[in-house]
Amino acid sequence: MKKLMLLIAISILAPILISAAKMPVAPNGIAYYPNYMTWKVIAPSYREDKGHIRIITGNEIAIAALHAGKNPLPDGSVLAKVAWKAEKHPFFPDATIPGEFVQVEFMVKDAKKYKNTGGWGFARFVGNELKPYGKDAGFVNECFQCHMPVANNDYLFTKIVKTP
Ligand code: HEC
Repeated sequence: MKKLMLLIAISILAPILISAAKMPVAPNGIAYYPNYMTWKVIAPSYREDKGHIRIITGNEIAIAALHAGKNPLPDGSVLAKVAWKAEKHPFFPDATIPGEFVQVEFMVKDAKKYKNTGGWGFARFVGNELKPYGKDAGFVNECFQCHMPVANNDYLFTKIVKTP
């Protein structure tokens, strides 16, 4: 019976541990969040200069806080921004749709741990290989600097998209 339990435990845990081991990690220690596409959508966006279509999603803590109008967001909130190259729909060229995957970025709230960057930890994973962005942990300054104009909105550009 004990052996059986052990076997069951191993068969459940092994794939989880193996996939966790393969997760890319940013130079500041933030690991890739594989579930970001199952999180709820905060808003889509389009960046003209880059020709990128994006979706910004949030984990449960972030979504609940945003709906409750909380600002700043509480510790444990994670936002993802995933980008694709915009392309014309082959059967309807007036429609612009997401094509090739470009990158996914994360903002992770931990007011103490990331107090030097507004309480947010930043991470970016580029291309289908999900290559961690940044030579060293200093890359976050680039992220933080550009998010400065929205410092009074907890460094967040995106608001929950309007629906009736
Ligand atoms: C040149 C300016 C700029 C830089 C640099 C930048 N961002 Fe942003 N970021 C934006 C803008 C503008 C938005 C709003 C949505 C969009 O652009 O699609 C945004 C949105 C986000 C969002 C969604 C939450 C929000 O604020 O709307 C995340 C997550 C994010 N950025 C992560 C990062 C990470 C991680 C880095 C660094 C690796 C980074 N950003 C660097 C401009 C920037």
